[in-house]
Amino acid sequence: MRLWLWRERVLSRRRVVSAAGCRPNPSPFAAGLLLHSRAVPLHRDTGPAGMDLSDLFAVFDSGWPRLHHLLALLCLCVVVYKSRVFWLQRRTEFRITEHFPGPPRHWLCGNILQFKHDGTDFDLILKWAGQYPCAFPMAFGPFVCFLHIYHPEYVKLLLSSTEPKDDVIYRFIEPWIGNGLLVSNGQKWFRNRRLLTPGFHYDILKSYVTLMSDTATTMLDKWGRYANANESFELFDHVSLMTLDSIMKCAFSYNSDCQTEGGKNDYIKAVYDLANLINLRMRIFPYHNDLIFHLSPTGFRFRKACRIAHRHTAEVIRKRKEALKEEKELERVRSKRILDFLDILLSARDENQNGLSDEEIRAEVDTFMFEGHDTTASGIAFILYCLACHPEHQRLCREEVTDVLCDKDTMEWEDLNKIPYTTMCIKECLRLYPPVPGIARKITKRLKFFDGRTLPAGSKVSISIFGLHRDPAVWENPHVFDPLRFLPENISKRSPHTFVPFSAGSRNCIGQNFAMNEMKVVVALTLKRYHLIEDPTQKPKLIPRLVLRSLNGIHIKIKPVAE
Ligand code: HEM
Repeated sequence: MRLWLWRERVLSRRRVVSAAGCRPNPSPFAAGLLLHSRAVPLHRDTGPAGMDLSDLFAVFDSGWPRLHHLLALLCLCVVVYKSRVFWLQRRTEFRITEHFPGPPRHWLCGNILQFKHDGTDFDLILKWAGQYPCAFPMAFGPFVCFLHIYHPEYVKLLLSSTEPKDDVIYRFIEPWIGNGLLVSNGQKWFRNRRLLTPGFHYDILKSYVTLMSDTATTMLDKWGRYANANESFELFDHVSLMTLDSIMKCAFSYNSDCQTEGGKNDYIKAVYDLANLINLRMRIFPYHNDLIFHLSPTGFRFRKACRIAHRHTAEVIRKRKEALKEEKELERVRSKRILDFLDILLSARDENQNGLSDEEIRAEVDTFMFEGHDTTASGIAFILYCLACHPEHQRLCREEVTDVLCDKDTMEWEDLNKIPYTTMCIKECLRLYPPVPGIARKITKRLKFFDGRTLPAGSKVSISIFGLHRDPAVWENPHVFDPLRFLPENISKRSPHTFVPFSAGSRNCIGQNFAMNEMKVVVALTLKRYHLIEDPTQKPKLIPRLVLRSLNGIHIKIKPVAE
């Protein structure tokens, strides 16, 4: 464009100059320009390009201001266009506020500034839930607004639908775990869910119980040093390493030694950073824009942590592929009775005999690596904390476990169904401390709720599992730990959508049996060896992340049972 303008200027000037019978004296720079243009023949007698410096300055003098005007106009158009897009987006997003009153919000920051990240955020959500029945809108910046729901009938309507995942939070997770089962939608999700479901078959889960027992024992052995110290210790990190070890052994047949190698595991640290950075991205609304986030220091840290996480999963896949090549294992895998999850991924074929691409395999491994360890770590850590705070229930669980295990130090598949009281305690902990405190969808069709209120298509909805599990309309004394709520006769009195730690409907947790088994194994073996004691000076400060965490960690004291 610039060249063309210059050329036109030069040409018109040359025409004027030649009409006046003058021959311009060109500069070499202008000559270059004209040579490229080819439109103007060079005249020997006028010098290489037929133009002098003053001509060139004249070109600049007269051409640049116009170019600036053009650019300014272009910028203005972009700004007007973008403003309109944002305005429309804001109008669509905030349409939900018409039918749903909610807490006051700042015009620019929405409700973000009301969250202090000091362990009181869930209290605030529960306070608002008490003020606004069923649902309230919650804005993250000027353009993103979710309807936050926590009434069982609202939750039921949404989870029974096939509405896709929302395009904010899950989009922020995607660079890390790819378009795997957790994030994908539509046909791709459907096909992959069907291909991967055999990985959670009863026969396969059965073979994992001994491995889970072994990894739990490694952790409990390490705890020996805290057992007589009469000091509390932080257990979330220990449990995270243990669940990582366990998912790697069970799902990927990978012995990592991550529990015993000492120091912090890079992958665990990266997962911790990623969860924090995704949360930060959610809260700082300019970061919702991909380009701004990419160029920011937070985006840089996010990419670095992603690289560490991907390196970890790539290594797991690489080792297995090598083994497959060397041992011609694929045939063996097909004929083998018990497969691990990675076998299923590598050998899965749909009806057209198409397998998963390398990209898909990596996404699923990343998804299962994260989902399979961080959620269960949160679950187990809070369960042990709850039992430490409720010695009377802890005692009953221990009696039950000891009756079942007798002298055994390991848990077996057959034992899992013999500890009903412990199972009720686990469920009660999942109610009070749901490892996944919220999930989100973007609705494609208008939704009408049981109370007549409607939600327009295009709205974003977040299901507060935390809020639902503490809804006083459903749960009597919702903050009180009472495992008897999960007696079969009490469960049958409630809607199944009152308790959804693993979500519900077609997008429920594919790993829930795996997770329940692991929680039972770890709780049983821990109670068999140690008394868990609360440290009243170190109460957890709950913070909403991708999984429920505590700002100050989770601290308990332990004492050997034999004493
Ligand atoms: C206590 C432990 C766990 C809890 C509380 C939990 C909870 C959940 C929840 C609430 C969802 C729905 C997410 C959404 O709709 O966005 C989900 C999905 C999922 N979970 Fe879990 N999970 C746990 C353990 C596991 C484990 C151990 C695995 C794998 C081994 C796993 C793999 C997945 C996958 C792949 C999905 C996506 C399923 C789909 O959309 O088809 N989870 N989980």
